[in-house]
Amino acid sequence: MQTEIRSKLLEAFSNAEGEFLSGQKISDLLGCSRTAIWKHMEELRKEGYELEAVRRRGYRIKRKPDKVSGNEISLGLHTQFMGRNIHFEEEVTSTQKIAHKLANAGAKEGTIVIAEQQIEGRGRLARVWYSPKYTGIWMSMIIRPKIPLNQTPQLTLLTAVAIVQAIEKVTGLFPDIKWPNDILINGKKVVGILTELQAEADQVHSVIIGTGINVNQRREDFHEDLKSIATSIAAESGEKCDRSLLIQEILIHFENLYEQYLRSGFKPIKLLWESYAISLNKEIVAKTLQGTLKGKALGIDDEGILLLQTGEGKIEKIYSADIKI
Ligand code: BTN
Repeated sequence: MQTEIRSKLLEAFSNAEGEFLSGQKISDLLGCSRTAIWKHMEELRKEGYELEAVRRRGYRIKRKPDKVSGNEISLGLHTQFMGRNIHFEEEVTSTQKIAHKLANAGAKEGTIVIAEQQIEGRGRLARVWYSPKYTGIWMSMIIRPKIPLNQTPQLTLLTAVAIVQAIEKVTGLFPDIKWPNDILINGKKVVGILTELQAEADQVHSVIIGTGINVNQRREDFHEDLKSIATSIAAESGEKCDRSLLIQEILIHFENLYEQYLRSGFKPIKLLWESYAISLNKEIVAKTLQGTLKGKALGIDDEGILLLQTGEGKIEKIYSADIKI
């Protein structure tokens, strides 16, 4: 009950978009006394919300705490379906694991799973993904597109575009995309995307898109062996970044692009992706499970597969690889 009132209170503030809400209005909306409201406001203050109370005008939220629990994300989120259901846990093994379970149990499209810390965060090719407490965005999104299996790699590229656009909007930094799923700032990785499927031979049941974003780590927080290849948004911009705001922007950009994709296909997304890609028209080395290939990255095809022209002029399709530029 308490949490229900709390959610309603935060929703009312969310709808007020930073304006004051009078005590009377809140009490009408929530159906509780003004003393009860005052107690809830005190609880919010203790949780790190910066509140303002002005006589005759009421209350407003000046700043949210730097947390990524459901409340901070929901407050001021303007999406139709992305992030409308939030499953938050302080510490998890991996948000991917939980998202798979929820998707199996019928979770709605747009459901997100988010945690402050992952202790078994995983990356592509069964690598470990370091997910320390309170510094990053460790999130899995569940979507249910009605598309053929072979088109699902396109969703990784779409997600990369959404995240780049969101980072640009919130921080003013200009990240690059390295095919297929790395987002770099000044040549170092800040974001990794892991796309997994629940599907039968001819039908996608759900797509679980895991995003790991290094947001507020300091340079010295990275393991010695990662320091030369990984970074965080704050380390590059020199400023702490509001994680819940960034999540909201990611959800908004993702929803817009995803709707455009379902309406008009991959072409418009492909163009955007190419505008952010750094590997195109460059000599690259692609380490695949089958071996290493060297050549020029020509671009991606209409499915999102990388096309590489070898020294002999042959064009190879790369479905999955580690790329060195
Ligand atoms: C990669 O670059 O290898 C992909 C990294 C993906 C990490 C994210 S963090 C949230 C989600 N949960 C996981 O265990 N992994 C993904």
